[in-house]
Amino acid sequence: MTSEEGALSHSPRTRAALIDRLAERLGPGGVLRDPADTAPFCSDWRGLYHGRTDAVLRPNGTEQLAEAVRLCAGAGDAARIVPMGGNTSMVGGAAVGEDGSELVLSLSRMNRIRAIDPVDMTMTVEAGVTLKAAQDAAEAAGCLLPLSISSEGSATIGGVLATNAGGNNTVRYGNARELVLGVEAVFADGSVFDGLRRLRKDNTGYALRQILVGSEGTLGIITAAVLQLHPRPNQIEVALCGVDSPEAALDLFQRFRRADPSAIQAFEYMSGTGMALVNALIPDATLPLAEPAPHYVLVELATVRQDGTLRDLLEAVLGEALETGAVLDAVIAESRAQRLNLWKLREEHAEAQKRAGGNVKNDVSVPVSRVPDLIRRASEACERLIPGVRIAPFGHLGDGNIHFNLVQPEGADRDAFLARDHEIMDAVCAVVRALDGSFSAEHGVGKLKPYMMPDWRGGAELAAMRRVKHALDPAGLLNPGKILPETEDRPGAA
Ligand code: MLT
Ligand code: ZN
Repeated sequence: MTSEEGALSHSPRTRAALIDRLAERLGPGGVLRDPADTAPFCSDWRGLYHGRTDAVLRPNGTEQLAEAVRLCAGAGDAARIVPMGGNTSMVGGAAVGEDGSELVLSLSRMNRIRAIDPVDMTMTVEAGVTLKAAQDAAEAAGCLLPLSISSEGSATIGGVLATNAGGNNTVRYGNARELVLGVEAVFADGSVFDGLRRLRKDNTGYALRQILVGSEGTLGIITAAVLQLHPRPNQIEVALCGVDSPEAALDLFQRFRRADPSAIQAFEYMSGTGMALVNALIPDATLPLAEPAPHYVLVELATVRQDGTLRDLLEAVLGEALETGAVLDAVIAESRAQRLNLWKLREEHAEAQKRAGGNVKNDVSVPVSRVPDLIRRASEACERLIPGVRIAPFGHLGDGNIHFNLVQPEGADRDAFLARDHEIMDAVCAVVRALDGSFSAEHGVGKLKPYMMPDWRGGAELAAMRRVKHALDPAGLLNPGKILPETEDRPGAA
């Protein structure tokens, strides 16, 4: 290629010609170009990134999507592709660059449930189906899709798998990865990987579906998947407990595990500070305990058994814990509506923190036994760093994943607080590292955290990741700037 051709391939004119061709191939409604239409795709839920794109591609099926990828691949550097589902990433996993050279590929029109099989206990869904719609369809067929996350009303199956989402029920059913039997995906050369197998056993070479799950759209675009379903529980019990320390929360978890580990469906921790924000800022989210507590636990038990004994189990464990003082107070939901109200107090944490001002998120994990140490030591470190910062950790205690989130001190300047985000993340991560944890438990690496990869996943691990990326996407067409650091520099470094 001559240097003029090289320059030409980057040019907006080449991209405009490519977009014309894409519009022709994708048909009516297949390409959005008007800035008013593309704007919602250019900012993320947290408001961390504001990019620009010349077009949003909306293929109506796998064949169209593959053709769009082939056209982009054939256009050299004119346009790289940012695959996008519900755009609910917490780490800019679908953030679009600022120079307009990246095209958004929205999966929103690929939203069919292709099949549900209650005998095989599987469902085959397209990537653009929201997690909530998939849960509802499974329920209508008498089954349970156990994956559950706070953003399930908007998050889509493609994004949930691309990020290997975790969520509230990981303690029992595992992460998204554990629920995937097969995937269909389009690789960076436009070829279609038709791996929609529904088999429980299939040892035939590399498990490519598992390389795609958690690859954040950097190795291929997941277009559909076969998910494993579970039987629907016949009894569900939910309780909210006030406890006086993170140690007491862990103690309660062990009490339930000793009583019947198979009954635990979710075991969530919330700080007193976080709960107070939910109470103050979310309409109809009222704490049903007589007194606020320093810390809280939400426990959900479930079983397929129909013997009516689950309530007895819950009451026995809570009764004993209340007697010994391990639990300060507890309320048990008496109806589905009450269960949902208790869950609301947990699920609205992220929204309440967003409303409270600038916040910094640390989606970290440690071995379950070390969660109390994490909360204590990271709280001390953050208080030392920014006196008055509102320390509001919450999350999935049962699997060791705590969202160690911080909200700006009351009355502080939002931008000045956010300018210190890396300092805060470093302070929390130092504790996480000392406790043998991970800097990203379920949100992924996205655009926000690739700079952490050399430090945490460096050496042979990162080198192997780069080789996998190069093998599957040599031109770097898919989701540029995510997961793998482009340079070894930290953001903001001179
Ligand atoms: C959650 O579990 O609610 C989320 O992952 C949200 C968050 O980290 O803020
Ligand atoms: Zn979470």
